[in-house]
Amino acid sequence: MNESISKVVLAYSGGLDTTVAIKWFTEQGVEVVTFTAEIGQGTDLEDVERRAYEAGAVKHYGLNLVDEFVFDYVAPAIRANAKYEGEYPLSSALSRPLISAKLVEIAEKEGADAVAHGCTSKGNDQVRFDITVRALNPDLKVVAPTRIWRWTRQQEMEYAKSRGLRIPESHSKYSIDQNLWGRSIEGGPVEDPWNEPPEDAFEWTVSPERAPDSPEYVTLGFEKGLPSSLNGEEMGLSELIAELNSLAGKHGIGRIDHMESRIIGFKSREVYEAPAAVVILKAHKDLEKLVLTRRELQFKELADREWTNLVYEGLWGDPLRESLQEMIGRMNEYVTGEVRLKLYKGSAVVVGRKSQYAAYSLEVAGYDEGWYPTDEEARGFIQAWGLHTLMARAARRGVSKVGIG
Ligand code: ARG
Repeated sequence: MNESISKVVLAYSGGLDTTVAIKWFTEQGVEVVTFTAEIGQGTDLEDVERRAYEAGAVKHYGLNLVDEFVFDYVAPAIRANAKYEGEYPLSSALSRPLISAKLVEIAEKEGADAVAHGCTSKGNDQVRFDITVRALNPDLKVVAPTRIWRWTRQQEMEYAKSRGLRIPESHSKYSIDQNLWGRSIEGGPVEDPWNEPPEDAFEWTVSPERAPDSPEYVTLGFEKGLPSSLNGEEMGLSELIAELNSLAGKHGIGRIDHMESRIIGFKSREVYEAPAAVVILKAHKDLEKLVLTRRELQFKELADREWTNLVYEGLWGDPLRESLQEMIGRMNEYVTGEVRLKLYKGSAVVVGRKSQYAAYSLEVAGYDEGWYPTDEEARGFIQAWGLHTLMARAARRGVSKVGIG
C-alpha cells in the first residue's frame, strides 16, 4: 500500500478476500472497522461479526438495510424500467451506492481516513465504489486490497492458514453476489459463452422443465409506479419482492443469460436469477403503456435508458442521475392500476391490465360500436399527416402536385 492511512472502514462480506484484507491491514498497523449490510442476500450478521473480530477488526457494524435498499434504490429502478442492455435488472449495481454511502457515513463517524472494498481490478463494482465514495467525501482514500496484492486464491488461502484465520467453508465454483433484487452468477463454468449454465448455478429458480404443469395467475397492484399489492393483498415493497421471488422462481421465471458490455472495456458472460424483478418490470412497463401518452412513452425510454446506464456505469453520484430520477418519478404519478400475469414454465406473460387513469377508451378503439370517423374525416387527417412526406417527394420529382385527397 503506498498511501499512508491509520484507520479504515472495510465493506466486509465475510468471504475469503475481505477476511484476508482485515488481517493484511492490521499487519500494516492500520486499524480496521468492518461493515456488513444485509440487503436480502441472507447473510447471518452475527456469524459475520464473529469472523470480523476473529480476523482482527476493532469494531464492527452489521446493519439490516433491506428497506433502505428497496425504497431508495430498487424503487427508482422499477420506475425507470431499468434493465441494462435490455436484460440485467441492475441488482448488484444498485447495491453499491448504498454500501458506499454507509461506508462514508461510518468513516466520518469513526474518524477513519480511508474506506476499503474487496473488488478486483476487472469488475464494475470497484468503479461504482470508488467513484461514489469520492463523490460523497473527496477527503477519504479508497483502498482495494485485492487490487494491490493480486494474489491467486491459493495464495490467499495460504496467507489465511499461516495467520490462523478461519476460512469460510464451502467455496462455490461461481462468484456470487446477491440481494433481494437478484442474484449474479459469474465465473467457473459460465465463463465460456457457449456453455449452457449448469443447473447448480441456480438457487432461486427451478428449471422451466421442472416447473408445475399448470399455470398460475398473479395480480400485481401498482400505485404511482410501484407495486403495492399481490393478489389483492396490500404489502410492503420488500415483502412483496420476497414473496414474488419465491412464487415466480417456482415457475422457473427469472433466469437471465446474456453477454454484457462492462464498464471496463470488455464483454463478459453474465447469468442472473431475478424472478421478482423480471415479473415486476414486465408488469410495470405494461401499465405505463396503458396510462402514458405515446409521446411520454417515447421520451421516457430515453430517460430510462440514460438512468440505467448511469447506474450501471458507476455514476450514481452524477447530478444527471438525480434529475432524471425526479422526472421519471413525476412521469409515474398516474401509473396506478393492476396488471394480471400468467406464470408458466419459465415465462411471465401479461394477460390483463386496468387503471383508473388508462389513456384507453373502448368506445374509441372498439371496432363494433361508438366513435367512427367519417370517410371525409379520415381523409382529412391522413392528408395532413402525410403532407410533409408528400411535398418532399413531389419537390424531388420536380412537380408541384402532391396528391391531395
Ligand atoms: N455484472 C454485474 C454488474 O456489474 C454483476 C456483478 C456481480 N458482482 C460479483 N462480485 N459477482 O453489476
